[in-house]
Amino acid sequence: MTAIKTEAAHDVKDLALAGEGRRRTEWAELSMPVLRQIRARFAKEQPLKGRKLAACLHVTAETANLAVTLKAGGAEVALCASNPLSTQDDVAAHLVKDHGIQVYAIRGEDNESYYRHIQAALAFESDITMDDGADLVSALHMIALDRLDDLAPPVRKWVEKLSKADRQRVVTRLLGSTEETTTGVIRLKAMAKQGILQFPVIAVNDSLTKHMFDNRYGTGQSTVDGIQRATNMLIAGSTVVVAGYGWCGRGFASRIRGAGANVIVTEIDPLKALEAQMDGFWVMPMAEAAKIGDFFVTLTGNTSVVRVEHMKAMKDGAVICNSGHFNVEIDLDALAKAAKGPRAVRDFVDEWVLDGKRIFILGEGRLINLAAAEGHPASVMDMSFANQSLAAEHLVKQAGKLSKAVHKLPDAIDEHVAAIKLQAMGTHIDQLTPAQVKYLASWDEGT
Ligand SMILES: NC(=O)c1ccc[n+]([C@@H]2O[C@H](COP(=O)([O-])OP(=O)(O)OC[C@H]3O[C@@H](n4cnc5c(N)ncnc54)[C@H](O)[C@@H]3O)[C@@H](O)[C@H]2O)c1
Repeated sequence: MTAIKTEAAHDVKDLALAGEGRRRTEWAELSMPVLRQIRARFAKEQPLKGRKLAACLHVTAETANLAVTLKAGGAEVALCASNPLSTQDDVAAHLVKDHGIQVYAIRGEDNESYYRHIQAALAFESDITMDDGADLVSALHMIALDRLDDLAPPVRKWVEKLSKADRQRVVTRLLGSTEETTTGVIRLKAMAKQGILQFPVIAVNDSLTKHMFDNRYGTGQSTVDGIQRATNMLIAGSTVVVAGYGWCGRGFASRIRGAGANVIVTEIDPLKALEAQMDGFWVMPMAEAAKIGDFFVTLTGNTSVVRVEHMKAMKDGAVICNSGHFNVEIDLDALAKAAKGPRAVRDFVDEWVLDGKRIFILGEGRLINLAAAEGHPASVMDMSFANQSLAAEHLVKQAGKLSKAVHKLPDAIDEHVAAIKLQAMGTHIDQLTPAQVKYLASWDEGT
């Protein structure tokens, strides 16, 4: 295979920011005991030795700790952003300067740069890819399926220059991929269902020690933080409409209630809606909630959840934001056609005027916890990224044995991560007694 060259070994805002990035990364590391333990073992055992790993993740201090862990395990690592607004430029600089990790990410990058950076990660010729939203994997599948017109222009231009054999090799050399988030897993399962998945994928999101904590407590806390930092508005006494009562929605609804809001939940799933109602929230359709809410927050992983017809019914000054993966949950294209704007009134706050009323969109509709705040606290990312590290190790150990499907990590890994986290928190739990083991395995003991 002819060597696929990248323009440079990194593309970050300013390497002079490395010192600040190092301090931020060290601060996060303090709250990541599980990852630290894995890093120490990886450094000894080198399970990723000689492997190349391209990751497309939010470039934050927590991700820096993951990248360093993978490198400690022997991997050569390249990293690009999984969202144009989530990069911490100082952290990106630190990874390049202090760890020799190839980073391609600049906060606020335009669409062209975003995909140029994805192209750089693809050109890294990795053995494993690690995604948050399946952007690398879907580009790889467009290449494998010869659907070059569906690739973003910077990626298409690069692929067109490759020979047919090189295009195939970019895909066939992969041992597999790992996926961080619900939306990515949905896309991957759609590929598997169509029978087009080209390599095994580990759905890290499906580990309990990931979604029960990261999606719920991480998104819950950091979404409140993002809204507060963007608006500095009082939450107490306001009405907050939460679209989606899945893991993220549940976490956010409970945390925003804790801040004193009256909370309305909108859902499309009767079970989730029932759960929200019994958890004590008001449940109603968005068309009704639109008339009452002060803040609207989407956490569904679905498209066009808040539409112009809803916005027209909202009060003057309504604030809308999204914390789901893609910026499709608020129909911004239709808003741009129907309204005047945007006018930036604060960092991360755009004012639109619709039928004479003001609507405020936060963070351009991108996940607000990463756009306006710093994403999840390190303590939950500790477990998510412990799973990512162990998923990479699993892919190497199981090389050639896993089918081209979406796999969960073995339950034993989930339990191991939970056990180390509890131990690190200094929490001890009971052990089953022999009599209890026997009782739980029997069917013939009644009253
Ligand atoms: N902000 C972050 O940092 C962060 C972290 C983790 C996950 N995510 C993303 O958040 C999104 C939600 O993830 P999750 O793990 O909670 O998923 P989930 O599947 O547990 O929950 C999504 C919920 O949205 C509901 N829903 C779907 N369409 C709807 C609609 N039109 N109106 C109202 N409700 C609707 C579903 O019924 C479901 O209950 C995904 O895009 C995921 O990738 C974001």
